[in-house]
Amino acid sequence: MIKVAVVGAGHWGPNLIGNFHNHGNSEVAWVVDQNESRLNVVRTRFPDIKVSSDLASVLDDPNVEAVVVATPTTTHYDITTAALRAGKHVLVEKPLADTVEKTIAMHELAQQVGKILMVGHVFVYNAAAQLAKQYITNQELGRVYYISMVRTNLGPIRVDVNAAFDLAAHDISLASYWLDAEPLSVAATGGAWINKGIEDAIFATIRYPNDILVNLHASWLNPVKTRDIRVVGDKRMLTFDDVNASEPLRIFDKHVDDEVAQVPFVDSIASFRMTVRDGDIKVPRVPTSQPLKVECDHFLDCIVSGAAPMSGGPEGISVVKTLVAMSRSMAEKGREVEIDA
Ligand SMILES: NC(=O)c1ccc[n+]([C@@H]2O[C@H](COP(=O)([O-])OP(=O)(O)OC[C@H]3O[C@@H](n4cnc5c(N)ncnc54)[C@H](O)[C@@H]3O)[C@@H](O)[C@H]2O)c1
Repeated sequence: MIKVAVVGAGHWGPNLIGNFHNHGNSEVAWVVDQNESRLNVVRTRFPDIKVSSDLASVLDDPNVEAVVVATPTTTHYDITTAALRAGKHVLVEKPLADTVEKTIAMHELAQQVGKILMVGHVFVYNAAAQLAKQYITNQELGRVYYISMVRTNLGPIRVDVNAAFDLAAHDISLASYWLDAEPLSVAATGGAWINKGIEDAIFATIRYPNDILVNLHASWLNPVKTRDIRVVGDKRMLTFDDVNASEPLRIFDKHVDDEVAQVPFVDSIASFRMTVRDGDIKVPRVPTSQPLKVECDHFLDCIVSGAAPMSGGPEGISVVKTLVAMSRSMAEKGREVEIDA
């Protein structure tokens, strides 16, 4: 049994507590939170778990092998580095941290102390997203032209990071996973209405290698919960709707054929006549699984095997580089910002 301490028991933390506690290979020994009322919630829901507001004393517990960080993004660095220095493996919620420098330092520290550092890019553990990756990798969509991703809801409104860090982190991690590539540049605009300087809605276009565009709209200021993702290839097109639990994926046998044809009335120059292929729509069966449980299982497996996680330091750094570039682009009125490799 791997003994785990979960730091942060706000909105999301209890989901992680539940997964690691009701697990055959792990149990939650401690929950740490600065807020006494959140510790009371844990006392009621999980009466057999010890709670504390003192992270240092929990990190001193030699029985604790792993720490799970579910606190606001700006606190990830301090908590994660303290846990790594105490010799614990760490699973930290997305995004890995709020600056590129911090993410690199976290990754390097994990390497130095020989512990697992994993970031909770939960969509790469989603069965539908994994199946979609197979379609993309196996060229069933042909050459990918672009991906559009819309992620909206009303709240929760963050005060430490903008909607890009909070919401688009999911989409960037998913696009990079699907395309097996890292973003090259980003141009974004955003609006900050609720809290000064913190964008509530962002509209961004990311360039990936091979002329692939990824367009994102992320907002916590929207009447409707939307998780609408479309991948457009030159052979087929795919949609992924995470809100649709029974049929999250659809493959459209639709594309445009280029047929070179003589057009009788336009001089004598050969012209393109586009024919639209409008075929069947396939709804593949997606095995039922809980992405967060798969993520937690993967973290435990990596601790046992020593294998690098699917979403480890390098993936976390890449996402934060893109988010930082996105925020810079927003500050510079949509200028296209290069992302360092
Ligand atoms: N994977 C997902 O789908 C998903 C969903 C929601 C949130 N998250 C991530 O989870 C993290 C937490 O989000 P949330 O919505 O639960 O936030 P939240 O504000 O609801 O909860 C954060 C909790 O951390 C506690 N806290 C703050 N600083 C602390 C510190 N230094 N030490 C101990 N406790 C501290 C707070 O008291 C609070 O209870 C964020 O990184 C967020 O991006 C991920």
